[in-house]
Amino acid sequence: MTDQLSTPTATFADKPTLEGERIILRPVRAEEDLPMLRVMLQDPEVLKYTSNVYTPVAPEWDEAMEKHVVEWYSTRNEQTDRLDLIIVDRSTSRGVGEVVLNEWDEANRSCNLRICIGPDGRDRGFGTEAVRMATDHAIRALGLNRVSLGVYAFNGRGQRAYEKAGFKVEGVRRQVLRWGDQWIDDIDMAVLAEDWV
Ligand SMILES: CC(C)(COP(=O)(O)OP(=O)(O)OC[C@H]1O[C@@H](n2cnc3c(N)ncnc32)[C@H](O)[C@@H]1OP(=O)(O)O)[C@@H](O)C(=O)NCCC(=O)NCCS
Repeated sequence: MTDQLSTPTATFADKPTLEGERIILRPVRAEEDLPMLRVMLQDPEVLKYTSNVYTPVAPEWDEAMEKHVVEWYSTRNEQTDRLDLIIVDRSTSRGVGEVVLNEWDEANRSCNLRICIGPDGRDRGFGTEAVRMATDHAIRALGLNRVSLGVYAFNGRGQRAYEKAGFKVEGVRRQVLRWGDQWIDDIDMAVLAEDWV
């Protein structure tokens, strides 16, 4: 089979600004992005769909939490094994969420993708566009062969957005999350360089 991989022109150490039709993906600016992150990280849907433990009540957003968040986001641009980009709505120039390429596996030329959009940015096509742009960067600029992600079975919107972006379901990890009194499956999805045209 022909090797579909492109020659890498960048690594995860490079923090690009990527221009899309309706959004821009740009490196984190912790101070400027903090108000958006504060809202996003306390949003009930974000907590539900991105957490790996059931949290009936959102953790209190106190000084220690804010300090931790500022420290985390202030150090994202120094990381060489992951790429964290803020999703910016072009029409307002405001940040609405983040998309991250992480779990870089150099030997097998693969990584994981995660995404999180706050309440103001959802259901406007931004998630689909951000996933397409980050995946395109992973495959074309970083020369990766495989980008994968996990999405809980009760997150229909996430699954639909990933499917629209070109991801295919590869399998189901059953009863991964205990959510209240329910068991929730985790759906594995991925895209390969050979599928990416
Ligand atoms: C999941 C997420 C990234 C999707 O991004 P988005 O910008 O909201 O999604 P888009 O507008 O690009 O696409 C959503 C699609 O799902 C559909 N949809 C919405 N709710 C749905 C549901 N409950 N079940 C099935 N499809 C649904 C929409 O109709 C749309 O499809 P369409 O264009 O065919 O009509 C974003 O909503 C988000 O970050 N949510 C909170 C955190 C989260 O879930 N993160 C991902 C964890 S894996």
